[in-house]
Amino acid sequence: MTAIAAALAGLAGAATLAIAGDGIAEPLPGAGPGDAARGRAIVASRQRGLCLLCHQAPIPEERQQGNLASNLAGAGGRWSAAQLRLRIADPKRLDPATPMPAYHRTEGLARVGAAWKDKPVLDAQQVEDVVAYLLTLK
Ligand code: HEC
Repeated sequence: MTAIAAALAGLAGAATLAIAGDGIAEPLPGAGPGDAARGRAIVASRQRGLCLLCHQAPIPEERQQGNLASNLAGAGGRWSAAQLRLRIADPKRLDPATPMPAYHRTEGLARVGAAWKDKPVLDAQQVEDVVAYLLTLK
């Protein structure tokens, strides 16, 4: 039953997140192992991740980096995979006032255009890829 629900959630891209404590221990349903190189590309991308709008990261080819939030250098030393997964997927669970977008949540959002309804910003695999990249930043 749970496995079926998880599979359906993965298929629909709907993010019923299995949060425990301040993290998500298991990889998101439907995702394979994270790929750090793909994750780096997502973090660097202005179309996809937009992380560098607010954060800095050790991605020297991207000259324009933000200073609204912390430098992501060292994130893999500060956080476990489970903690990073929740901080990317739905940081508002930890701080409802955070300006950081919930990258893998489709429930409970206001003002979502029809084209984006039920589509998280990053799919399950992309979240795992970003987590894998951040874990390399020790
Ligand atoms: C609109 C600004 C914004 C964007 C875009 C954004 N963040 Fe954040 N992020 C923040 C802020 C602000 C915090 C500080 C914690 C808080 O407010 O809850 C934070 C916290 C974090 C943290 C935990 C703190 C740390 O430095 O270890 C991580 C990891 C993180 N963000 C990664 C990302 C990644 C990866 C992306 C892109 C996929 C991203 N963020 C996009 C604003 C942003």
